[in-house]
Amino acid sequence: MDVKIELKKRADELDGPIRSYIGDESPSNLIEATRQYPYAGGKRMRPCMVVSACRAVGGDGEKAIPLAVAIEYIHNFTLIHDDLMDGDVKRRGMDTSHVVYGMPTAILAGDALFAKAFEIIAALDIPSDDMRRVLKSTGTAVWDLARGQQMDINNENSGTVSMEDYIETIRLKTSVLFAAGVAGGAIIGGADERTVEAMHGYAMNMGVAFQMFDDILGIYGDPKKTGKSAGNDIRKGKNTVMVCRFRDTIGEGALMDEFMAVFGKEDAADSEIETARRILKETGCYAYAMDMAEEYTNKAIACLDVLPDGQEKEFMKALAEYAMDRDV
Ligand code: IPE
Ligand code: IPE
Ligand code: MG
Ligand code: MG
Repeated sequence: MDVKIELKKRADELDGPIRSYIGDESPSNLIEATRQYPYAGGKRMRPCMVVSACRAVGGDGEKAIPLAVAIEYIHNFTLIHDDLMDGDVKRRGMDTSHVVYGMPTAILAGDALFAKAFEIIAALDIPSDDMRRVLKSTGTAVWDLARGQQMDINNENSGTVSMEDYIETIRLKTSVLFAAGVAGGAIIGGADERTVEAMHGYAMNMGVAFQMFDDILGIYGDPKKTGKSAGNDIRKGKNTVMVCRFRDTIGEGALMDEFMAVFGKEDAADSEIETARRILKETGCYAYAMDMAEEYTNKAIACLDVLPDGQEKEFMKALAEYAMDRDV
């Protein structure tokens, strides 16, 4: 299976539904702002996983489409607020929401997408017990995501972030939303509790590998492909996987001084960022991070054992591999 082609096909099929929930209301600048990120696309991995999880357990994928849209709206809400918090100016190749619409409208657009997501979930055609489970797990996910985002912000320019804290941060800020989506898809598909748990585990592990690789892409990726600027995590002093490894293994000395001269330097030139890149590669921190991501990917794939063999299981396995082998 060519996962990029398959993902693109499935993502395109969700384009109509993703566009169908935001009507022409006023004020038009707010409505435009709510549409900006969802309409621009992105990979749409989360909504595709919701539908796939539903099908993988033998359910009718059509029934999971509203939840898929809701999860994508929540994701887009978090991206709008994340870009504001991170002070990033590029996303999906566009100027970010707060750059285009200003800070107040960006905050409101995020809030509005968040609210719309729950309005959509409340209209799902599922038994009320399942509805309660989906509402609870989605609500808890967003709560946890906020905790993770705060930990991420607290970790900026903090000299004491352990690998353990980093992993807890990314489980919360990234994995939990994937997991709520996949578990929700499985619930809608009628899965038993053990299967829902296993699917949840798949997404939690996959999300860790995904975010580790995202942090690698944030340093080594090509902005023309990722649509986001590169090197800003270094400029902002974000303690991501490679930096945690660096701190754990490189004691005080010339190399640490050279790295620290760039790390957290807001106005670091591209040549200085290049120095940080080189150091993280030469010290094996890049390779270590890739190995760790691979471990999580393997754990994720092992969770899929509960599923019957078939196209959806293959797709989910391929997506887990793609999460840590992508250029966008
Ligand atoms: C970006 O997520 C935010 C993270 C959790 C790293 P994606 O890489 O899934 O972004 P899009 O939706 O494809 O743009
Ligand atoms: C985004 O994390 C995670 C969420 C939106 C919850 P990052 O800040 O690390 O991701 P990018 O690089 O901006 O997409
Ligand atoms: Mg960010
Ligand atoms: Mg962030």
